[in-house]
Amino acid sequence: MIDIHCHPLPETDDGAKSVEVAVAMLRMAAEDGVTHVVATPHCNFRYHFDAERNKQKAFELETVLGGVPALLLGCDFHLSYENIRRLDGERALFTINGTQYLLVEFDEHFIPEQMDHVFYEIQVAGITPILTHPERNTICRRKMQHLYNWVTRGCLVQITAQSYTGGFGSEAQRAVEEMLDLNLVHIVASDAHDTLHRPPRLSRAREKMASRRGQRLAACLFQANPEAIIQGKPLPPGPMPISPEDRKTKKRWWSFLKR
Ligand SMILES: [Fe+2]
Repeated sequence: MIDIHCHPLPETDDGAKSVEVAVAMLRMAAEDGVTHVVATPHCNFRYHFDAERNKQKAFELETVLGGVPALLLGCDFHLSYENIRRLDGERALFTINGTQYLLVEFDEHFIPEQMDHVFYEIQVAGITPILTHPERNTICRRKMQHLYNWVTRGCLVQITAQSYTGGFGSEAQRAVEEMLDLNLVHIVASDAHDTLHRPPRLSRAREKMASRRGQRLAACLFQANPEAIIQGKPLPPGPMPISPEDRKTKKRWWSFLKR
């Protein structure tokens, strides 16, 4: 499996508090079957993003771990006008492994009105936004139409493994199921911050997905799609293509339009 959203770089944000914790997190990920971890420190009003510092920290961790799991760099990029200006000319510092894919987050309880325009600007600049954990955003949960619109315009969606297995509460868990019913999920990642409360494990969520929604979808969301992303390969835009095998638990796709 490949984890494109994780916070193991020590003392860069609210993730790993020390090198020891970082090493423990990455070993835990490897033991869980994760071959590649993208370290994605926050870039927001609270945490300063320093690409050189991140590179150095990743190098130190790789030296300790011997490259298992492989550690790549990215950013948990907060969507604000100020931040977007920082992408000009130096987007490879923020995107996943220097590719066209950018992990983007917005506040858990708030979606700025101009978000449609922001996504448009980013895409015009040749960047494919990957929206992180919309299932944890109260507005996205209530108005799934927003998400559907963004996905049809080329935005990808990453949900958190722990949301799917219930670690972020029943509402987030229900939202994930609804997004899966609507084919609006492209990637599952850990968004891990430590080894205890938000660990870098994906296997439990993958097993659940394989048993409830089929091996093919599980392989796509945990392996094939993240792999295409770290390699900078294009993914088909729009909702996830679904095979008949994956339709077992699928609801009517238009149900959310009735709200
Ligand atoms: Fe994150």
